[in-house]
Amino acid sequence: MNYTVRRLQRKDIAEYLALTQYTDSETDFLGSDPTDPRPSVLRILSSMKEERQVLFVAANANGLIGHLGGFWRRGKNPRLGHCMNVGLAIAKDYWGNGIGNALMDAFEQWATEHKIVRLELEVMTHNERAVALYKKRGFEIEGTKKKSICINGEYLDEYLMAKLID
Ligand SMILES: CC(C)(COP(=O)(O)OP(=O)(O)OC[C@H]1O[C@@H](n2cnc3c(N)ncnc32)[C@H](O)[C@@H]1OP(=O)(O)O)[C@@H](O)C(=O)NCCC(=O)NCCS
Repeated sequence: MNYTVRRLQRKDIAEYLALTQYTDSETDFLGSDPTDPRPSVLRILSSMKEERQVLFVAANANGLIGHLGGFWRRGKNPRLGHCMNVGLAIAKDYWGNGIGNALMDAFEQWATEHKIVRLELEVMTHNERAVALYKKRGFEIEGTKKKSICINGEYLDEYLMAKLID
Protein backbone atom coordinates (compact mmCIF):
# COMPACT_ATOMS: atom_id res chain seq x y z
CA MET A 1 0.00 0.00 0.00
CA ASN A 2 1.40 3.38 -1.00
CA TYR A 3 1.39 6.16 1.55
CA THR A 4 3.73 8.82 2.84
CA VAL A 5 4.30 10.22 6.32
CA ARG A 6 5.20 13.84 6.93
CA ARG A 7 4.84 16.77 9.29
CA LEU A 8 1.45 18.47 9.10
CA GLN A 9 1.52 21.45 6.75
CA ARG A 10 -0.65 24.56 6.80
CA LYS A 11 -2.59 23.37 3.78
CA ASP A 12 -3.52 20.13 5.61
CA ILE A 13 -5.14 21.66 8.66
CA ALA A 14 -8.83 21.62 7.63
CA GLU A 15 -8.52 18.05 6.32
CA TYR A 16 -6.58 17.03 9.44
CA LEU A 17 -9.38 18.35 11.70
CA ALA A 18 -11.99 16.43 9.68
CA LEU A 19 -9.85 13.27 9.92
CA THR A 20 -9.54 13.56 13.72
CA GLN A 21 -13.34 13.79 13.96
CA TYR A 22 -13.69 10.79 11.66
CA THR A 23 -11.19 8.62 13.56
CA ASP A 24 -12.84 9.62 16.86
CA SER A 25 -16.15 8.38 15.45
CA GLU A 26 -14.82 5.02 14.24
CA THR A 27 -13.67 3.44 17.51
CA ASP A 28 -14.19 3.66 21.25
CA PHE A 29 -10.43 3.42 21.86
CA LEU A 30 -9.76 7.15 21.99
CA GLY A 31 -10.14 9.56 24.87
CA SER A 32 -11.59 12.14 22.54
CA ASP A 33 -15.15 11.94 21.31
CA PRO A 34 -16.50 12.91 17.87
CA THR A 35 -18.74 15.47 19.57
CA ASP A 36 -15.75 17.20 21.22
CA PRO A 37 -15.25 20.65 19.74
CA ARG A 38 -12.31 20.72 17.32
CA PRO A 39 -9.63 23.36 17.76
CA SER A 40 -9.79 26.14 15.19
CA VAL A 41 -7.42 26.25 12.23
CA LEU A 42 -5.91 29.37 13.83
CA ARG A 43 -5.30 27.53 17.09
CA ILE A 44 -3.50 24.72 15.28
CA LEU A 45 -1.45 27.28 13.38
CA SER A 46 -0.41 29.07 16.56
CA SER A 47 0.44 25.81 18.33
CA MET A 48 2.63 24.90 15.34
CA LYS A 49 4.30 28.31 15.47
CA GLU A 50 4.86 28.19 19.22
CA GLU A 51 5.91 24.52 19.08
CA ARG A 52 3.47 23.43 21.80
CA GLN A 53 2.89 20.23 19.87
CA VAL A 54 4.20 18.40 16.85
CA LEU A 55 1.81 16.82 14.36
CA PHE A 56 2.49 14.16 11.74
CA VAL A 57 0.11 12.81 9.12
CA ALA A 58 0.01 9.82 6.80
CA ALA A 59 -1.44 10.39 3.34
CA ASN A 60 -2.26 8.33 0.29
CA ALA A 61 -3.65 9.32 -3.11
CA ASN A 62 -7.09 9.89 -1.51
CA GLY A 63 -5.78 12.31 1.13
CA LEU A 64 -4.99 12.06 4.84
CA ILE A 65 -5.49 8.63 6.42
CA GLY A 66 -3.69 8.81 9.75
CA HIS A 67 -2.44 11.31 12.29
CA LEU A 68 -0.08 11.43 15.27
CA GLY A 69 0.31 14.20 17.81
CA GLY A 70 3.17 14.66 20.25
CA PHE A 71 2.65 17.30 22.89
CA TRP A 72 3.90 18.64 26.19
CA ARG A 73 0.98 17.83 28.44
CA ARG A 74 2.59 19.23 31.57
CA GLY A 75 4.27 22.17 29.92
CA LYS A 76 7.57 22.78 28.21
CA ASN A 77 9.93 24.08 30.87
CA PRO A 78 13.49 23.09 31.87
CA ARG A 79 12.18 20.44 34.28
CA LEU A 80 9.50 18.89 32.07
CA GLY A 81 10.38 19.77 28.49
CA HIS A 82 12.15 16.44 27.94
CA CYS A 83 8.84 14.53 28.38
CA MET A 84 6.22 14.31 25.66
CA ASN A 85 2.87 12.59 25.36
CA VAL A 86 1.82 10.90 22.16
CA GLY A 87 -1.45 9.87 20.57
CA LEU A 88 -2.29 8.49 17.15
CA ALA A 89 -5.11 7.10 15.05
CA ILE A 90 -5.44 5.61 11.59
CA ALA A 91 -8.64 5.48 9.53
CA LYS A 92 -10.02 1.96 10.10
CA ASP A 93 -9.95 0.97 6.42
CA TYR A 94 -6.16 1.26 6.57
CA TRP A 95 -5.37 -0.56 9.82
CA GLY A 96 -2.73 -3.29 9.60
CA ASN A 97 -0.66 -1.68 6.84
CA GLY A 98 2.21 -0.50 9.03
CA ILE A 99 0.98 3.10 9.11
CA GLY A 100 0.93 3.27 12.91
CA ASN A 101 4.53 2.08 12.96
CA ALA A 102 5.54 4.52 10.23
CA LEU A 103 4.01 7.48 12.10
CA MET A 104 5.77 6.43 15.30
CA ASP A 105 9.07 6.06 13.39
CA ALA A 106 8.77 9.65 12.14
CA PHE A 107 7.83 11.01 15.56
CA GLU A 108 10.55 9.11 17.42
CA GLN A 109 13.15 10.33 14.95
CA TRP A 110 11.97 13.92 15.49
CA ALA A 111 11.96 13.36 19.29
CA THR A 112 15.51 12.03 19.25
CA GLU A 113 16.71 14.99 17.21
CA HIS A 114 15.00 17.34 19.68
CA LYS A 115 16.57 15.71 22.75
CA ILE A 116 13.29 14.36 24.08
CA VAL A 117 14.08 11.69 26.68
CA ARG A 118 10.69 10.29 27.69
CA LEU A 119 7.65 9.44 25.58
CA GLU A 120 4.46 8.70 27.45
CA LEU A 121 0.94 7.61 26.58
CA GLU A 122 -2.23 6.13 27.97
CA VAL A 123 -3.94 3.23 26.24
CA MET A 124 -7.05 1.29 27.21
CA THR A 125 -5.99 -2.11 28.52
CA HIS A 126 -8.27 -3.97 26.06
CA ASN A 127 -6.87 -2.11 23.01
CA GLU A 128 -4.77 -5.13 22.00
CA ARG A 129 -3.64 -3.79 18.64
CA ALA A 130 -2.34 -0.54 20.11
CA VAL A 131 -0.72 -2.22 23.14
CA ALA A 132 1.03 -4.67 20.77
CA LEU A 133 2.27 -1.80 18.61
CA TYR A 134 3.66 0.12 21.58
CA LYS A 135 5.29 -2.93 23.19
CA LYS A 136 6.92 -3.83 19.91
CA ARG A 137 8.36 -0.31 19.78
CA GLY A 138 9.87 -0.59 23.25
CA PHE A 139 7.20 1.10 25.35
CA GLU A 140 6.81 -0.45 28.79
CA ILE A 141 3.74 -0.63 30.99
CA GLU A 142 4.50 1.50 34.05
CA GLY A 143 1.13 1.06 35.71
CA THR A 144 -2.60 0.63 35.37
CA LYS A 145 -4.90 3.58 35.83
CA LYS A 146 -8.04 1.90 37.12
CA LYS A 147 -11.40 3.17 35.87
CA SER A 148 -9.59 6.15 34.37
CA ILE A 149 -11.93 6.52 31.42
CA CYS A 150 -15.70 6.17 30.95
CA ILE A 151 -16.94 4.92 27.57
CA ASN A 152 -20.69 4.59 27.03
CA GLY A 153 -21.24 4.54 30.79
CA GLU A 154 -18.61 1.84 31.45
CA TYR A 155 -15.52 2.62 33.52
CA LEU A 156 -12.41 1.18 31.88
CA ASP A 157 -8.74 0.81 32.85
CA GLU A 158 -5.83 2.31 30.98
CA TYR A 159 -2.16 1.43 30.97
CA LEU A 160 0.35 4.18 31.45
CA MET A 161 3.11 3.27 28.99
CA ALA A 162 6.43 5.00 28.45
CA LYS A 163 9.59 4.69 26.40
CA LEU A 164 12.92 6.25 27.28
CA ILE A 165 15.02 7.48 24.37
CA ASP A 166 18.78 7.10 24.92
C1 LIG B 1 -3.66 1.29 17.10
C2 LIG B 1 -3.47 1.80 15.65
C3 LIG B 1 -2.92 3.22 15.68
C4 LIG B 1 -2.47 0.85 14.96
O1 LIG B 1 -2.27 1.33 13.65
P1 LIG B 1 -1.93 0.33 12.44
O2 LIG B 1 -1.55 1.17 11.28
O3 LIG B 1 -3.02 -0.66 12.28
O4 LIG B 1 -0.64 -0.37 13.06
P2 LIG B 1 0.47 -1.19 12.30
O5 LIG B 1 -0.10 -1.85 11.10
O6 LIG B 1 1.65 -0.29 12.09
O7 LIG B 1 0.90 -2.25 13.44
C5 LIG B 1 -0.04 -2.87 14.27
C6 LIG B 1 0.64 -4.04 14.96
O8 LIG B 1 -0.28 -4.66 15.85
C7 LIG B 1 -0.43 -6.05 15.50
N1 LIG B 1 -1.81 -6.41 15.68
C8 LIG B 1 -2.84 -6.22 14.85
N2 LIG B 1 -3.98 -6.66 15.41
C9 LIG B 1 -3.65 -7.14 16.61
C10 LIG B 1 -4.38 -7.75 17.65
N3 LIG B 1 -5.70 -7.92 17.57
N4 LIG B 1 -3.72 -8.12 18.76
C11 LIG B 1 -2.40 -7.94 18.86
N5 LIG B 1 -1.65 -7.36 17.90
C12 LIG B 1 -2.27 -6.97 16.78
C13 LIG B 1 -0.07 -6.12 14.05
O9 LIG B 1 0.30 -7.44 13.78
C14 LIG B 1 1.04 -5.09 13.95
O10 LIG B 1 2.26 -5.64 14.34
P3 LIG B 1 3.31 -6.13 13.20
O11 LIG B 1 3.98 -4.88 12.65
O12 LIG B 1 4.25 -6.99 13.96
O13 LIG B 1 2.53 -6.84 12.16
C15 LIG B 1 -4.82 1.73 14.84
O14 LIG B 1 -5.35 0.45 14.95
C16 LIG B 1 -5.85 2.73 15.30
O15 LIG B 1 -5.90 3.86 14.81
N6 LIG B 1 -6.69 2.32 16.27
C17 LIG B 1 -7.79 3.21 16.77
C18 LIG B 1 -7.23 4.38 17.54
C19 LIG B 1 -6.31 3.91 18.64
O16 LIG B 1 -6.54 2.89 19.29
N7 LIG B 1 -5.25 4.71 18.85
C20 LIG B 1 -4.32 4.45 19.93
C21 LIG B 1 -4.86 5.00 21.18
S1 LIG B 1 -3.71 4.82 22.52
